[in-house]
Amino acid sequence: MSGGFGSGGAAADPVTRGEPAKKGLHVITWGCQMNVYDSGRMADVLAPLGYGPAGSLEGADMVLLNTCHIRERASEKLFSELGRLRVLKEARAAAGERMILAVAGCVAQAEGADILTRAPYVDVVLGPQSYHRLPEMVARAARAGGAVIDTDFPAESKFDHLPEAAAPQGLTAFLTIQEGCDKFCSFCVVPYTRGAEASRPAAAVLAEARRLVAQGAREITLLGQNVNAWHGEGPDGQPASLARLVRWLAEIPDLARIRYTTSHPRDMDEDLITAHGEVAQLMPFLHLPVQSGSNRVLAAMNRGHDVAAFRRIIARLRAARPDIALSSDFIVGHPGETEQDFVATLDLVREIGFAGAFSFKYSARPGTPAAGAAGQVPEAQKDRRLQELQTLLRDQQAAFNAGCVGLSVPVLFTGKGRHAGQIAGRSPWLQPVHVIGPESLIGREMPVKIAAAHTNSLSGTLEQERVCA
Ligand code: SAH
Ligand code: SF4
Ligand code: F3S
Repeated sequence: MSGGFGSGGAAADPVTRGEPAKKGLHVITWGCQMNVYDSGRMADVLAPLGYGPAGSLEGADMVLLNTCHIRERASEKLFSELGRLRVLKEARAAAGERMILAVAGCVAQAEGADILTRAPYVDVVLGPQSYHRLPEMVARAARAGGAVIDTDFPAESKFDHLPEAAAPQGLTAFLTIQEGCDKFCSFCVVPYTRGAEASRPAAAVLAEARRLVAQGAREITLLGQNVNAWHGEGPDGQPASLARLVRWLAEIPDLARIRYTTSHPRDMDEDLITAHGEVAQLMPFLHLPVQSGSNRVLAAMNRGHDVAAFRRIIARLRAARPDIALSSDFIVGHPGETEQDFVATLDLVREIGFAGAFSFKYSARPGTPAAGAAGQVPEAQKDRRLQELQTLLRDQQAAFNAGCVGLSVPVLFTGKGRHAGQIAGRSPWLQPVHVIGPESLIGREMPVKIAAAHTNSLSGTLEQERVCA
């Protein structure tokens, strides 16, 4: 499954843009889906400067690293990658060519000029709110040499500055509608790296969605660090929440599937739960991080909800949409977590039953309240708890997948499968599904009779050659 924040590995993005490229750009992205989306936007704003996809990393005129700061290991990746790039940059310099190294994303925001102390060969450092200024910064770095830094939090959100996204994303597209976080969970860097919550206006979201669909998207995933905190204004001037936005999106012809991620339990309002029961395009799958099953730990985490509130939300969601599947994020070993607290997390997982989940060892992040808190949990305890939790979650995922065998499931086919003659797509619950079938079905949603469940995917046979209702 996918969909969680901060869970992705590095990806070299296929940043293909219209104009014939005179200069090669290579983008490496870590972290959440929003970073993936932002990388595309940065490639968009660089295209007018003549940047297009580089043939190879070695031959790139500019390498852009879009970074993640969520856990210690995530941010350390930047410096090991920079060490490797330094060698390439020096090799290019020896050949009389320039390689501009730009560091963007959450490590750039959190560490700013300190990056240059550790890696003085970096040319550009810019935080997530400054992407619209990238062309100017690159031009300055290219002209003058010497590093250019921008990690300001401007008064307006970046939504006010970035031009419309230009590049088609294909059959499944991401659309950022909200950014930032005001919740200040004890352990988390996001409020410091992404700034305060900001929503993109409804009209801009709908315009981008229509364009994505016109470019071929059949599924759109709305993105935000707290996507269900999105709020805006309807055409009637009335305040609108995510539920209304979803209903407007559902009116776009040919948009078959709508998803949103990541949500916070505190913002899971009644209208949104009702929409899950009423809007057919809203997929029956929700990633709703709970972090812990212990009220004591939830309070220490400053989550602003307790276990009972989470249970109530799940019960209401299941009443509205009985086939809804759930995923979540968990942290083990938050400061102060006792064995009893951890057992309460296992109990909650057993009670709810998840189709998938991301679980992490608590990682102290400089500047966050939990980093200096008493009761830091020894590493060995964290390891053991994580293993135990992950075993349980893996079993639940396997049981969920096994439960699909024998069902007829609508699959949106998005590409060829790994083996000859196969095509692959996703179920409503985000499981990859592969079947033997013609490539002509790519882009269509078709019913598949599920025959087998594998560790992370399903396989089956096409029921019949017709589009699902
Ligand atoms: N906005 C989302 C999650 C954003 S961060 C929410 O509120 O739930 C993605 C996930 O990374 C979090 O849900 C959490 O499980 C994990 N995470 C964040 N900070 C962490 C830290 N310091 N150590 C370990 N895991 C962390
Ligand atoms: Fe981080 Fe909490 Fe905000 Fe999620 S709600 S981004 S975990 S501070
Ligand atoms: Fe990582 Fe920043 Fe996303 S810290 S998870 S890239 S918001």
